[in-house]
Amino acid sequence: MNFKETLAERQKAAEDVVTRWLPEETGHQKLIFQAMNYSVLAGGKRLRPVLMKEIYSLFGGRGEEIEPFMAAIEMIHTSSLVHDDLPAMDGDEYRRGKYTTWVAYGEDMAILAGDALMIYAFEVAAKAFAMTDQPRNVGRAIEILAAKTGIYGMIGGQTVDVELTDRPVSREQLDFIYHLKTGALLEASMMIGAVLAGADEKVQKQVEQMASDIGMAFQIQDDILDVEGDAQVIGKPVKSDEKNNKTTYVTLYGPEGAKEQVKEYSRRAVEILDHFQAKDEFLRQLIISLITRDR
Ligand code: IPE
Ligand code: IPE
Ligand code: MG
Ligand code: MG
Ligand code: MG
Repeated sequence: MNFKETLAERQKAAEDVVTRWLPEETGHQKLIFQAMNYSVLAGGKRLRPVLMKEIYSLFGGRGEEIEPFMAAIEMIHTSSLVHDDLPAMDGDEYRRGKYTTWVAYGEDMAILAGDALMIYAFEVAAKAFAMTDQPRNVGRAIEILAAKTGIYGMIGGQTVDVELTDRPVSREQLDFIYHLKTGALLEASMMIGAVLAGADEKVQKQVEQMASDIGMAFQIQDDILDVEGDAQVIGKPVKSDEKNNKTTYVTLYGPEGAKEQVKEYSRRAVEILDHFQAKDEFLRQLIISLITRDR
């Protein structure tokens, strides 16, 4: 199997896991289940659960307790998108090739669905305790999931992103925003894979740094696609950043300068990967493929 086929197979496997952990659409509060499932099942690259599983396998993880965490990280990521698209934030109407949750279900339900996905993720992740003989690792993984989602992670980053809209932003501020709003959930994905596989703390730190570099490259490429991408392919509107008067890597350095930065951060990530004793050609190619991703 070539890289593309392997990636497609792993994305499908991640999608199946995520789907299995979604709530059943029944009961008086069925509307919230429908709104949650709508946004998760709309599609998406499933990059975070794929990376989580890859790191878990790389460091010798063979159990099933990774699965509720794969579902949880995709739910949290999706919750961040549901809220990011709200009129009070980026005000976008398309996501993953469909209407955003607030357009399809109303703003009230989109707020609730984002909240619901974020907290249901922890309900699901906690199921891992009953699936392992290493409950301390599960406890640590839940701590990482919470920390990287919250005020020291994604939410902290989104806060500064919103606060600095319409204002001049320095490189240092922009790096802080990207590291948190996008990097943190990628760090959580990969660190949880390492923790559940029983990797030692030194390795966990290296994995965190590798994920941080992938996160920077990923968000800068997202900025580039916001300017140069095809809305049909990315499944969300282009020029959202311009509409919202956001400072990005493209506004600071131009598209070519931004592309150089994507390459540089990706190179750093690969360098860390190459350092590990265990080799992972798929992950290496995945990191490199993200440099030229068109969606
Ligand atoms: C979009 O993430 C938001 C960012 C952090 C840049 P993805 O590009 O991973 O979105 P999906 O999950 O594939 O829809
Ligand atoms: C993504 O920033 C950050 C999070 C959703 C946490 P963007 O606002 O650039 O993401 P897109 O482009 O809407 O996916
Ligand atoms: Mg945003
Ligand atoms: Mg947005
Ligand atoms: Mg964007």
